[in-house]
Amino acid sequence: MPRLSDPFQVKGLQLRNRLVMAPMVTGLAQDFAPSQAQIEWYRQHARGGVGMVVVESVAIAPDAMILSRLLGIWEDGQVAGLRRLARAIQAEGVPAVLQIVHGGARAVREDLAQERVSASDVALLPGPRPRPMTEAEILGVIDAFAQAARRAREAGFDGVEVHAAHYYLLSQFLSPYTNKRADRWGGDRAGRSRLAAEVVKAVRRAVGPDFPIFCRLHSMESLEGGMSTEDAVYFAQALEAAGVDLLDLSGIGSSSLGDWQGQPFLNSSSLLPKGSPGAVFAPSAGRIRAAVGIPVITVGKLSEPGLAQEVLDRGQADLVALARPLIADPLVAEKLLAGRDGEINRCGECLACFAAIRKGPIRCSVNAAV
Ligand SMILES: Cc1cc2nc3c(=O)[nH]c(=O)nc-3n(C[C@H](O)[C@H](O)[C@H](O)COP(=O)(O)O)c2cc1C
Repeated sequence: MPRLSDPFQVKGLQLRNRLVMAPMVTGLAQDFAPSQAQIEWYRQHARGGVGMVVVESVAIAPDAMILSRLLGIWEDGQVAGLRRLARAIQAEGVPAVLQIVHGGARAVREDLAQERVSASDVALLPGPRPRPMTEAEILGVIDAFAQAARRAREAGFDGVEVHAAHYYLLSQFLSPYTNKRADRWGGDRAGRSRLAAEVVKAVRRAVGPDFPIFCRLHSMESLEGGMSTEDAVYFAQALEAAGVDLLDLSGIGSSSLGDWQGQPFLNSSSLLPKGSPGAVFAPSAGRIRAAVGIPVITVGKLSEPGLAQEVLDRGQADLVALARPLIADPLVAEKLLAGRDGEINRCGECLACFAAIRKGPIRCSVNAAV
């Protein structure tokens, strides 16, 4: 059985161990470019012992932003700033992968009158329902993802991660909850996975055969009418066939219905409810891992002593990602690997980090340095 401290290789990428920094919006970007504080944030985390860093969501178009203080990658002039970010991580001997996203029905809007687009007209935020995308708009999004991936490569990143999770645009096409289309972009599993697969194929054409492409996908959703793990297995195989080298498997940890002027909207979160056990997504990740020939990452409250190693022992994942535990303690990876679990400054699951990034820079109630 692999140990957490064992090195790992995926498509030419060398990881010194099996712990990964999960993508996390920091709210530190300035004018859609990395600020010095953001570069220092990633440098500090690369020094903290993880084997790989997946850099936070970067918007592929100005109207695709998932929060207002996001990084952008929609024009060539944005490459130079992103290159400084990639280099800061790589200078610590850690590969840097960039996550690219389109928010779709969950794109941020200062003015609610400004429309959002999606697979269908299912609302996922307060505001008017999103407008179903036209064929031409869908083809435009495929091209925008491909151009963004090309820029990520030009910026010197070691790989790119296509965000097809968390009910952002590609996830809105995958899920039967949000995709009610009757054309070739909807309907059965093949139709619902067409956009994500076409994005991956276009990204592959843009970055060449050797550049690692990751895809973030749900292994599980706790949501009635959402996608099942059987759907996820199908999508994982379709994305592998399209050219994905690694699946970063996340999930929907909680959901509820909100109300905007009498119109319901689906509130969903990738975070497991406070107090729930760790590794909840790991069993479904293991089912997907058994059905594909590429490595998988699992995530979700995995910093409890021994838990990350247990996931590897059970064959549920090749790599284990941490998000909030790294905000609370940037040295958590080093401490887990050295068996110094007792020294970890633990996340209190208060969600102050999540609340802060809606308005500004990330905050943490148990790590005063953040
Ligand atoms: C502050 C914050 C920002 C996040 N930003 C992203 C993001 O940019 N992209 C993404 O795929 N997931 C994002 N997530 C979800 C995490 O990557 C991770 O899947 C989730 O927090 C569960 O892991 P944890 O229990 O270790 O925190 C974010 C989570 C937090 C707390």
